[in-house]
Amino acid sequence: MPDKFAIFTEGLVKRYKGKSNSTLNSLDLRIPRGSMYGLLAPNGAGKTTTIDILCGLKKFDSGRVMIDGLNVPSELGEIKKVIGLVPQEIALFPSLTGRENLKIIGGMYGVEGKVLNERVDDLLTRFGLENSADRQLTQYSGGMKRRINLLAGLLHKPKILILDEPTVGVDAQSRNLILEELVKINKEGTTVLFISHYLEEAECICDIVGLMDGGKIVLEGNPVELARSNPECKNLEALYIKLTGKQMRDTYE
Ligand SMILES: Nc1ncnc2c1ncn2[C@@H]1O[C@H](COP(=O)(O)OP(=O)(O)O)[C@@H](O)[C@H]1O
Ligand SMILES: [Mg+2]
Repeated sequence: MPDKFAIFTEGLVKRYKGKSNSTLNSLDLRIPRGSMYGLLAPNGAGKTTTIDILCGLKKFDSGRVMIDGLNVPSELGEIKKVIGLVPQEIALFPSLTGRENLKIIGGMYGVEGKVLNERVDDLLTRFGLENSADRQLTQYSGGMKRRINLLAGLLHKPKILILDEPTVGVDAQSRNLILEELVKINKEGTTVLFISHYLEEAECICDIVGLMDGGKIVLEGNPVELARSNPECKNLEALYIKLTGKQMRDTYE
């Protein structure tokens, strides 16, 4: 059964040393192949912890984790070829240009030569960066750096793209471009796991959303259907508050 899913976790538990409660508390994630799945939770709920475990960057205490039918952590070597990770923290070389950054990162993924050059050009154009590609990253806006950070996760054409809060701190123009391109990438066949605490973005672009609280999924479904079956809640945010008594977003945002 786990083979049916791009990402599968069962009873996933993670407890950090010194913390009295588990950060992930029997998390069951079932992300169908080809879907655009929004995993949504407030800050500090365990979103980045989840991603780090999926990508083999952190150990877990119990449960089962599978990516594309492969086992974490025993088959991580194969898994790394199929996933593209866009981390929350920008992981780039500031003194190099956007193009140079992408070429180095592509090389680390084993993409080289003409194929690499073509992919870099194509992605820079798709994400509106062709004219700034040869400028040093220090001259980029926050939104432009975020876009390069995202492209870095796409260079090896992953089957599964995992993005940790890809639109935090970006201007409206970059945000729209990022969301539009993610929809296209998903339509081209890539499974997308979109992790965010911006409910309204996920509501627009995701075909399944999973709301997380207390280290597990508390509600999952198609955003339109969830809204229809809870007409008293005018949006997902209201539904989340009804379910958990908590705000999704920090009030100062
Ligand atoms: N290395 C760590 N050691 C101890 N606690 C951690 C560590 N990393 C994260 N945490 C804690 O785990 C919880 C979830 O963190 P995180 O996964 O980063 O949440 P999110 O990405 O949803 O904001 C937070 O309470 C955070 O302080
Ligand atoms: Mg996080």
